[in-house]
Order: sequence, then C-alpha cells, then structure tokens
Amino acid sequence: MKAIQITDIHLTQSREHQLFNVNLYDNFDTICEEICRIKRVTEIDLIIVSGDITNDGDIDAYRYFFKRMDSCQTPYITIAGNHDLKNNIDTVITEIKPKYNITSGEYNDKNWFITYVDTVVKGEDYGFITQNNLAELEKRIILNKKFNTAVFMHHHTIPVGTPIVDSCMLENAADLLTLCKKHKVKFIGCGHAHTSRIWHQNDITISVAPAVSFQWLSGTDTVKTTKSFGFNIIDFSENISLTSCSY
Ligand SMILES: [Fe+2]
Repeated sequence: MKAIQITDIHLTQSREHQLFNVNLYDNFDTICEEICRIKRVTEIDLIIVSGDITNDGDIDAYRYFFKRMDSCQTPYITIAGNHDLKNNIDTVITEIKPKYNITSGEYNDKNWFITYVDTVVKGEDYGFITQNNLAELEKRIILNKKFNTAVFMHHHTIPVGTPIVDSCMLENAADLLTLCKKHKVKFIGCGHAHTSRIWHQNDITISVAPAVSFQWLSGTDTVKTTKSFGFNIIDFSENISLTSCSY
C-alpha cells in the first residue's frame, strides 16, 4: 500500500495572514493539487496528516482544511500538533462530518496496520506521551500483531541537529522507541521538525516528513527559515521506500 504523509501546514486565521512571508493556504492548495495529480499516476490508499494543521487553532482554518482534504477523495488520518486546538478540531468534525476523515485514526490493509499516538502536551511546544497513551498504543499493536505496524505522531523522536526544534522534541522518545523495538514496529513517522530526515535503527525506519509550510534552516538555533515545502510518499511494501517531494 502507498500512503502520503503531510505535516505542519500551519494554516493561519485567513488567507491574508502570512507566516515568514509564506502564504500557507497557497502551499496547502499546491500540495492538495499535487496529491490529485499523483493519484492519477499511482494508487494512493491513505493520507496521514501529522499535526500543526493550523498555526493558532482557528475554526475557519480547520473548516478550510477538512473541506480541502475531502476534495482529495482519499481516506485520511488527522493527528493534532502543538499548534492545534483539539476542541476546535472536534467542533469542525461534528459540524462538517468530513467524508474521508478516519475518526478511529487507524487503517488496515492486508499486510499493514497504520496507527497513531498523541504526543501533545496542552500549552507546551515539546511533546510527551502519557503512560495511558503508551499503554493504549501497546494494546493496539498487540491486537494487530499479524500485521506490519507503522506508528505516526506529531513530535520527532530523534534530534535532527537543528537546536530550534530539538529543544522541543518528544521528551520521552526513549519509552516510545523501546516499545516499538519490543513489538517489532516497522515504521515511525513524525512531523514538527520542519526538516526532512530518515534513520534506520533496530530494524525500524524512522522518518520526519518535510513541512507543508516552511523548513527551518538546517542547524539553526534562531528563527531562520527556507521557503521550500513538501511531503513524503511512503511505499509500505516488503521493503519500505520513501519519496520526498519538494516544491
Ligand atoms: Fe509542531
């Protein structure tokens, strides 16, 4: 099966509000159009949106997000990031009832189990997975042990070497990585770092997808950005392969 991971869209209050001279709505529209184009040349089974859908949690931005995502006509999993407001996401889901949003956050095909874990700490930039959420994740992985498992989340689990984001990564990443190693999880997909990066550790492929909004300059410890943007296509076959698309 093939999935697309998009992350860190940071939609502002309205199209007129830019961030670092980037129009987030234009970037998101471009990505959605690209997804439609790619779907005409290859089959895409699932889209994972790994958090920071909006910059400030605005209701209108979530309305735009869900309507635009539904226009891609592909099932998608929505994960919250540190910039999101979960109550507002839920309000808009109740209001719009998006057709392609997978409310369980889980997806199975004949070989793969795709799931997520919540890493958001209310009011904080850094991430943390509560003991409850870790235990829940473990239960779901065990229940689906006949499948290969991929776990998606917002915060990155390994430093990317860019202090401005490594200072607010997933705090208890070691607990997650131990659990994933124990249960032979095959893939971990993150966002949040506004950086594209892949590691292979203990038979796990760990990936950070590039942001749809902007990237941090590699290695920076102050606010310095580059306007490139993109997303990943992940081919979940026997040997995982990953295509980073950038614009
Ligand atoms: Fe983030």
